[in-house]
Amino acid sequence: MFSSPSTSPGAAIVAFGDYQPAQVVTNADLMERVDTTDEWIQSRVGIRERRIAGPDDTVESMAVVAGGKALAAGGMAPEDIDLVIVATCTARDQIPNAAASVAAKLGIVAPGAFDVNAACAGFCYALGIASDAVRGGSARNVLVIGSEKLSDWVDWDDRSTCVIFADGAGAVVVSASEEQAVGPVVWGSSGERADKIYLRDHKYLYQEGQAVFRWTTTELYKVALEALDRAGVDPSELTAFVPHQANLRIVESIARKLGAPQALVARDIVTAGNTSSASVPLALSRMVERGELPSGSTVLTLGFGAGLVYAAQVIRIP
Ligand SMILES: CC(C)(COP(=O)(O)OP(=O)(O)OC[C@H]1O[C@@H](n2cnc3c(N)ncnc32)[C@H](O)[C@@H]1OP(=O)(O)O)[C@@H](O)C(=O)NCCC(=O)NCCS
Repeated sequence: MFSSPSTSPGAAIVAFGDYQPAQVVTNADLMERVDTTDEWIQSRVGIRERRIAGPDDTVESMAVVAGGKALAAGGMAPEDIDLVIVATCTARDQIPNAAASVAAKLGIVAPGAFDVNAACAGFCYALGIASDAVRGGSARNVLVIGSEKLSDWVDWDDRSTCVIFADGAGAVVVSASEEQAVGPVVWGSSGERADKIYLRDHKYLYQEGQAVFRWTTTELYKVALEALDRAGVDPSELTAFVPHQANLRIVESIARKLGAPQALVARDIVTAGNTSSASVPLALSRMVERGELPSGSTVLTLGFGAGLVYAAQVIRIP
């Protein structure tokens, strides 16, 4: 009926980039502010130190640096990009979105540009959308960025949250490819549990820690296994598992249930903290940079968070 765009047989991640603020905040630093201990934080959450934004770091500025690094790593010029998606739930302003100004600052002229708010699952949602856009012919190359400044939304006198959350950004470029190297996204939500993580008084992050912990450790391995199944990948074939870095105990609990003992498990949280939608691309980028994910690696990603929402997919490292 209508002419349709030329579609691509597949979509693949072709490059990674990341950004972390310079300021390191250790558990000892937090002990000066709230009644906590290094032992409590490391044993309950698994964080040793985290990065917190400086006065000049914003969701947009961090996204620009991570996105720019991904473009450079992929040998891409700004004019190659025709869609920019920023996954974030911590942008200061509702209007305008972050993606359009991030694109402009990167010199990308008039791309499609929108934000995705699926909290800590945002990157996995955005990656699924980017892959579909490329395969459907709506874009040739998509810049997908997760960028978060959680420190703006944390009550620094609340010891139950200030020890967990942090700031940073990670990015990938998704491009047309002969083979499909981004597996089908498995996404879903549990909106009846919206009260488990939210902004209290529209100001500070609040969570029912134990309820969230239970949900993540009893339900989410099923989502991860479904993503493997839908991609036709056996757990024994996995090179690595890169879940949202919410809490080391959650990461390790889900990893144990995958039946993939050979898979390297991302433990970026130890030094990066929980950076919401930035945590998966940040961990991926750092693992690639360290040479832990050689070309051809099969990696399972899993995002989950406020909503409650979740998403997972398998990717092949270029
Ligand atoms: C938040 C979390 C670490 C708390 O651990 P927990 O074992 O459930 O701890 P509780 O909330 O039951 O609190 C136990 C005690 O530790 C105390 N506590 C909380 N934070 C503390 C801190 N930073 N230092 C020392 N004590 C702390 C509590 O006040 C409580 O004290 P009480 O027994 O005297 O009342 C844990 O529930 C969790 O990780 N949940 C998942 C959260 C998450 O990952 N969210 C992100 C999803 S995207």
